[in-house]
Amino acid sequence: MLCHKINPGLELRLLQPADAPALFALVDANRASLREWLPWVDDTVKVADSAKFIAGALRERAATRAFASGIWASGRLVGVIRHNRIDWAARIAFPGWWLEPGSQGQGIMSACCRALFEHAFTQLQVHRIVVGVAIGNLRGEALVRRLGFTPLSTLRHAEWLNGRGVDHIIYSLLPAPAGP
Ligand SMILES: CC(C)(COP(=O)(O)OP(=O)(O)OC[C@H]1O[C@@H](n2cnc3c(N)ncnc32)[C@H](O)[C@@H]1OP(=O)(O)O)[C@@H](O)C(=O)NCCC(=O)NCCS
Repeated sequence: MLCHKINPGLELRLLQPADAPALFALVDANRASLREWLPWVDDTVKVADSAKFIAGALRERAATRAFASGIWASGRLVGVIRHNRIDWAARIAFPGWWLEPGSQGQGIMSACCRALFEHAFTQLQVHRIVVGVAIGNLRGEALVRRLGFTPLSTLRHAEWLNGRGVDHIIYSLLPAPAGP
């Protein structure tokens, strides 16, 4: 998914090295809010850290086809959606996503997720999508439920976040069954 226009004002584009300053500026401007649920925010302290993230994602894409796309709304970078990992043996994708607070509450991430999942099921041919949502992340949970994910189990101490071990609910999504 090099570039995907969701609607005239909303686009996914593979993050490129030239996007590092904009990506860092977005994280830096919103770190107080983003750090609540994203463990990497405190380690992102300079443009070079965002450049390193993008370079790593591009390497991963070459090696495993997992990728990281920027979300551009009205021409401005407002978040990221990605496959953290794709388990090709099992055909399971493990995506992740975040949006700046000012762009939340408008359905932007729901639309981006639908595009990412459609691509995953039809182009990448994965057979399951799995995400872990930290207990207490109400917006994160509302999003996956809105998108039709089913809760499977609780993974205790799934993540170290702001000095404490956080439990995740593991959610799964299968492709919609073919119609009659
Ligand atoms: C998780 C996260 C991406 C959800 O963002 P979001 O803006 O709530 O999700 P959406 O973009 O789908 O928007 C849904 C909201 O837009 C509204 N909306 C408007 N038009 C909509 C549409 N066409 N479709 C869906 N929702 C729409 C919904 O009613 C909902 O409103 P609400 O906030 O009042 O309930 C965001 O909270 C975030 O980045 N959090 C920090 C990082 C994080 O937690 N990542 C996920 C880890 S699992």
